[in-house]
Amino acid sequence: MTDNRKFSVVIAGGGSTFTPGFVLDLIKSQDMFPLRQLKFYDNDAERQKKIADAVKIIIKERAPQIKFEATTDPKEAFSDVDFVMGSIRVGKYHMRSLDEKIPLKYGVNGQETTGPGGMAYGLRSIPAILQIIDWMEKYSPNAWMINYSNTIAIVAEACRRLRPHAKVINICDMPIDIMNRMAKICGLDSFHDLDFTYYGLNHFGWWKSVTNKKTGENLMPKLKGYVNENGYWVGGDYDKDTEPSWEATFKKAADCYKLEPETLPNTYMQYYYYPKYEVENADPKHTRTDEILEHRQKIVFGECKRIVEAGTAKDNIWDISGLHSEYIVDICHAIAYNTHEKFLANCPNNGAISNMDPDSIVEVPCLYGADGIQPMATGRAGRFQRGLMMEQQTCEKLVVDAFVEHSYNKMWQAFALNKTVPDALVAKQILDDMMVVNKPYWPDLK
Ligand code: NAD
Ligand code: G6P
Ligand code: MN
Repeated sequence: MTDNRKFSVVIAGGGSTFTPGFVLDLIKSQDMFPLRQLKFYDNDAERQKKIADAVKIIIKERAPQIKFEATTDPKEAFSDVDFVMGSIRVGKYHMRSLDEKIPLKYGVNGQETTGPGGMAYGLRSIPAILQIIDWMEKYSPNAWMINYSNTIAIVAEACRRLRPHAKVINICDMPIDIMNRMAKICGLDSFHDLDFTYYGLNHFGWWKSVTNKKTGENLMPKLKGYVNENGYWVGGDYDKDTEPSWEATFKKAADCYKLEPETLPNTYMQYYYYPKYEVENADPKHTRTDEILEHRQKIVFGECKRIVEAGTAKDNIWDISGLHSEYIVDICHAIAYNTHEKFLANCPNNGAISNMDPDSIVEVPCLYGADGIQPMATGRAGRFQRGLMMEQQTCEKLVVDAFVEHSYNKMWQAFALNKTVPDALVAKQILDDMMVVNKPYWPDLK
């Protein structure tokens, strides 16, 4: 029987800097994941329109069969869809900048998804993501939400507790980015050529094994030798457009590897292993957000404006495919066609890491199919890793407690327990500053 299905997708966070790349990858993948409809939803009409006006032209020129619309109306956005892509940033770059800069004022890491900044961002995201899930369930009860709005670990814990039956899968592209680098190091094309065992929490994990998918060759010795010297920095053509802070991150993986050489680390371990180094090397007046405003956001919105003014997207500069979006298309395809391919997801542990609690949110390999995800067993976590994970996941759970109970003390405990924060008083000072600026987004913590 031929399968003539065509899918309808809504991108929640249509104004995201990643949206145009994602649209191009969707268009490129029409034989693999055909669309009948694409919608954008955002609560900032003006920001979304700048992207949508350019995308309208791209679709008209390259895939006119896809019906396209951009809206700020939830009913219109979430009706008649098969997939919801969650790409929102509550508080936008203005709040990300504060997440990064407030902790640095107190000598603590300032980072989008880790430490106090990551917890502040997570608390902002929870109500918005729950709201989107509710709209999806109301208007398109059979749809799946693939969410990558951060802070994923906290959002996933909130979903586990507050929407346990929702068809939502929380994903991250960092391990995929690193695995593409691993493939390069081993002379292979992409992460598709690798098999792997990875376990941990989001932005907090380790590879136990990496093999050549075709031959079964164990690639760990080669990778360890390389990472020990260079981290995941592969240079050359591959890294030519990588911004300075990412270059530093990929290189720092060498030091992360040295601390625990049985496994290969996620790059985000740098913030937990070497917070002193991170703070000393940060500029509290110019953080990652400033780099994005000067680079990615400028390029994306500049190019959209150029396309709209020219009235055509011929020779636009995004014809290079984005890793982030390629991965999301792969995942939609696996669910739509019930392929049972293996990708990572953040989900309740339920035995996947044998010495972690069943209700821990973990990031582990899962089989993706029409019924969603099935976590795979990864064995025992090492003593070192388990110790780190117990602390970190407790912070993530405390943030959700703070949300549910409107509890100031739970949020303070979350900050105080975190490995990136040296002292409960410092935790309180950061929290008190954050309370003020997060007033429009956080529950009223008492
Ligand atoms: P961005 O600020 O460019 O775009 C986010 C958009 O979300 C904005 O247009 C904003 O108006 C909109 N928005 C904010 N709150 C909303 C709400 N309540 N409802 C609807 N729309 C809302 O951000 P970006 O840098 O492109 O990143 C988008 C998201 O993707 C972020 O959450 C980022 O952390 C995440 N991200 C995750 C991964 C991953 O590995 N999981 C990878 C890359 C990006
Ligand atoms: C990786 C992570 C994401 C994070 C992003 C930040 O892709 O997996 O979770 O949001 O990096 O990148 P940026 O370029 O916005 O600093
Ligand atoms: Mn991520």
